[in-house]
Amino acid sequence: MSSRRSASGSVRSRTPKREGLLVLDEQLRVKRANRFFYEMFLVSPAETEGRLIHQLGDGQWNIPNLIDQLKDVAAGNARLDGLEVDADFPAIGRKTMMVTTRVLDQEGPLNMVLLVISDMTKRKAAERAVQELSGRLLRLRDEEQRRIARELHDTTAQNLSALGMNLALVQRESERLGPEARAALSECVAIGDQCSREVRDVAALLHPPLLDEIGLASALRWYADSFSRRTGISVSVNVSPDLGRLGQDIETTLYRVAQECLTNIQRHSGSPTAEVRVERDEQEIRAELRDEGRGISSDALARHGVGIPGMRERVRQLGGRLDIRSDSHGTRVIVSLPLGGASAGGGGA
Ligand SMILES: Nc1ncnc2c1ncn2[C@@H]1O[C@H](COP(=O)(O)OP(=O)(O)OP(=O)(O)O)[C@@H](O)[C@H]1O
Ligand SMILES: [Mg+2]
Repeated sequence: MSSRRSASGSVRSRTPKREGLLVLDEQLRVKRANRFFYEMFLVSPAETEGRLIHQLGDGQWNIPNLIDQLKDVAAGNARLDGLEVDADFPAIGRKTMMVTTRVLDQEGPLNMVLLVISDMTKRKAAERAVQELSGRLLRLRDEEQRRIARELHDTTAQNLSALGMNLALVQRESERLGPEARAALSECVAIGDQCSREVRDVAALLHPPLLDEIGLASALRWYADSFSRRTGISVSVNVSPDLGRLGQDIETTLYRVAQECLTNIQRHSGSPTAEVRVERDEQEIRAELRDEGRGISSDALARHGVGIPGMRERVRQLGGRLDIRSDSHGTRVIVSLPLGGASAGGGGA
């Protein structure tokens, strides 16, 4: 097994990498390019060697951010380690490239810069497709849960209420029944009540009606109350008074993040308390979920379940960030989401 692996490893290391290489002088003039550069950009050595990089082609390499950084590299003050650049090339279309540099020390006054260019176009397109798909799946799941919750609330829960009212009517005349039938009737009333509570709880967990109707702040308070009753963990909810209504995507995302964090706090942290904070300014909305538990070990974080990656994905879909800060005194999950509809998902549902 190990010999096979080392054999294939050595084969792989001898296979040339498909990377474009440019050697530039201190003025950023192309001294040499490799064959793959010419194949990748469909250009000839005559169109390339001896020209300044920002004059190559029809000026596609005249990318201010890239040129500025290359000047620093050529002066020996910096190196580029995976700069992502996009450019439109007439012959080959739009390319996403990853650029890395190394300074080649010369005998004499000049430094040469080696530019390594990897074509990331296909990989980026695949990443975008995966992001779009996962965004669509999350939205579909939210929509499905909302639909099931509404259905349960509007049909089964209403039917159970009607059943309860009819049973109450019968119970008023229960002295006409024998003792066994009377006991059975009482039991039916109790079971009916329990079913009714369970159906409403399931519907509310799937999708809290409050979230759509009166917004995130009330829905979070409602969830924190029912969470505290179920778990004995005391939760304080601090929502800035000027939060107002946010878009449905933002409200659903923050609600689901709070739900997952509180569930994690109950299952993993050992903390007797939890805090939910939500505040906003002009640009962004920031939520923080904090506990005073044992913290997340690096082992646990490395082998996460579905919860943490799921939160990250939801937040990324809206162009936001999720940070986790954890030590032996507790854990903070901090989410910031841009206001104004920025979306990393790229496509609609
Ligand atoms: N607040 C917390 N305090 C301590 N450990 C935590 C906390 N939150 C998460 N963890 C640790 O991080 C791990 C990953 O959490 P994550 O939510 O991704 O998965 P999970 O809760 O184990 O499973 P699920 O997929 O059902 O959410 C947990 O298994 C746990 O060990
Ligand atoms: Mg979890």
